[in-house]
Amino acid sequence: MPEKFYITTPIYYPSDKLHIGHTYCTVATDAMARYKRLKGYEVMFLTGTDEHGQKIEDKAGEAGVTPKEYVDRIVEGEKGVLDLWKLMNISNDRFIRTTDSYHVSAIQKIFKAMYDKGDIYKGKYVGKYCKPCESFWTESQLVDGKCPDCGREVQDAEEEAYFFRLSKYADQVRDLLENTDFLEPRSRVHEMVNNFIKPGLEDLCVSRTSFTWGVPVDFDPGHVVYVWIDALFNYMTALGFMNGEHHDLEKFWPADVHFVGKEIVRFHSIIWPAMLMSLDLPLPKKVYGHGWLLLDGGKMSKSKGNVVDPYLLAQRFGVDALRFFLLRSFPFGSDGNFSNELLIQTINTDLANDLGNLVSRTVSMVEKYFGSALPADQRVDDTLDKPLVDMGSSLRDRYEAQMEKYQFQNALEEIFKVVQRANKYIDENAPWALAKDMEQSGPRLARVLYNLLETIRLCAVLLTPFMPESCEKIFLQIGAGAPLQTWDSAGTWGALPAGAATVRGENLFPRIDVEKELAELEEIAAQAKKAALPAIELEPLTTESVDFDTFCKSDLRAVKVKACEAVKKSDKLLKFTLDDGTGTDRQILSGIHKFYEPEELVGKTLVAIVNLPPRKMMGQESQGMLLSAVHTKQGEEKLHLIMVDDAIPAGAKLC
Ligand code: MSP
Repeated sequence: MPEKFYITTPIYYPSDKLHIGHTYCTVATDAMARYKRLKGYEVMFLTGTDEHGQKIEDKAGEAGVTPKEYVDRIVEGEKGVLDLWKLMNISNDRFIRTTDSYHVSAIQKIFKAMYDKGDIYKGKYVGKYCKPCESFWTESQLVDGKCPDCGREVQDAEEEAYFFRLSKYADQVRDLLENTDFLEPRSRVHEMVNNFIKPGLEDLCVSRTSFTWGVPVDFDPGHVVYVWIDALFNYMTALGFMNGEHHDLEKFWPADVHFVGKEIVRFHSIIWPAMLMSLDLPLPKKVYGHGWLLLDGGKMSKSKGNVVDPYLLAQRFGVDALRFFLLRSFPFGSDGNFSNELLIQTINTDLANDLGNLVSRTVSMVEKYFGSALPADQRVDDTLDKPLVDMGSSLRDRYEAQMEKYQFQNALEEIFKVVQRANKYIDENAPWALAKDMEQSGPRLARVLYNLLETIRLCAVLLTPFMPESCEKIFLQIGAGAPLQTWDSAGTWGALPAGAATVRGENLFPRIDVEKELAELEEIAAQAKKAALPAIELEPLTTESVDFDTFCKSDLRAVKVKACEAVKKSDKLLKFTLDDGTGTDRQILSGIHKFYEPEELVGKTLVAIVNLPPRKMMGQESQGMLLSAVHTKQGEEKLHLIMVDDAIPAGAKLC
């Protein structure tokens, strides 16, 4: 019987499109699930969506659809959650939606079970509420009067509600955190104990009456279950807890690990175990709180308009390169700064220069020198081969040690040390020099190339959880069939048969032109920012009134453009020669060159205020002002001269 491994991601709020930060956690979970499968485990990898709560109800209202229609669109619609996971090659075994009917009825039973036990009771909630986080806070928990999780404004809240006796489990939870390795990294334990447990755990408000989009408390109409209770139990209902939809609870519970972002560690390491303790259920073995991907030093968020679109990056750089970058560039337990430069640099250095080059050089040398199949007659040179062979033979152990600690970055570092060593081995052995005398050096050259192919194979097996599609292509190129792609085969040097046959393929990771790519990405970001701006911005109306007589003092006249030219040394000003009906030309200067070319205005009938005192601009006199309409469109200033019917004679007064 294979060993079991149950791993989960948080279930995502489908309140907006997912960004690269969400993708990060799911890719990490996917790499871990694939790694365990590679090792022969029977894996259950669960992800899903957390679809209830006031925020969703509000957003649906704004969009003029029902909450269910709203979440359906974000989960199942084009470029929705399901599409994104498909694109990113996510190998989840199950996908739960908290609106699935089996989950809803299970949550009702769970709530009732805790109520029957006396751990949920009815009371009154008075405190503060953070709407975006859907969290209740006491005054003392606020930071500078704001939500301690997201830093936004909170509102006063008072309602009849059900409470969970969290306080009853404070000691047990503290013991779990301090005396076991339930929560990792360790730094998060101190944070939880110091910030939440030491100040005193208060009972938790677990029902709401202020909105309806949630799981109804079936024995008390009007109350819906707090979204976090509903959400946390997904990890068990998805296996069949309190429902007949699934039947894997015994097989997979308790979970081996919940991967969660650092801001939701509190829910997973305090509230979640306390509820499980209340129901006498086994606790998950581990909660791992990973860091955030930051942009310009801050958390990405749609409301700040600084989200990075995974679709765009996957389309430009390839899914595997993006997956690789996310886990190669940032230590999983800490925050990391995302930037396009880092992404391109990582692809160019590790994938194009180091790995891609190693594969393409090796495969083309096998083709060139041996017609794509190595001869079995090979000559070992211990002194030259040993450093590479030793590193390659022991790679799996070093990699495994890091993967077991969820240190993806370090595991990849181990692989890339070997890749770099192999590139150095090419230089040390200079195959092109050996090839000059094939009779004498042919067997040696064959061994050098064999060692390179074998190194590539070992690395590719261990890279499979990170870049499944690219590794498949590598296996094809180096002629390594299924038995040579297994975990076992990666533990021994020399599994590749001596007469290995290669197939030259496409360049796996083309080098990216940094400057050009950055410029294009910047342009795309600028366009996206523009598109996100309100389409048209208008000046607010002036509230101060103007009396009629004052208004009538402005002498507005129709004027015909006789000539128009740009003012020398000014990139803004146009000089108009106008017929104002008096028989004497009027000259007006106007800073509108950005919007019009002079020649397109000749002959037009415009409107001018003619009784403004003359003023000098760039040394020339302007006798009045032309009227125009202005507004801002998607961040860009727009101006339209007021043009009137050409049938209106020059000098006609406008009133
Ligand atoms: N619905 C809850 C989870 C319930 S689990 C029982 C939730 N959803 S979320 O969509 O807001 O976030 C899902 C996950 O994405 C969280 O773990 C969160 O930390 C992670 N990330 C969101 N933005 C992130 C970054 N910028 N960087 C890394 N992870 C981030 O919370």
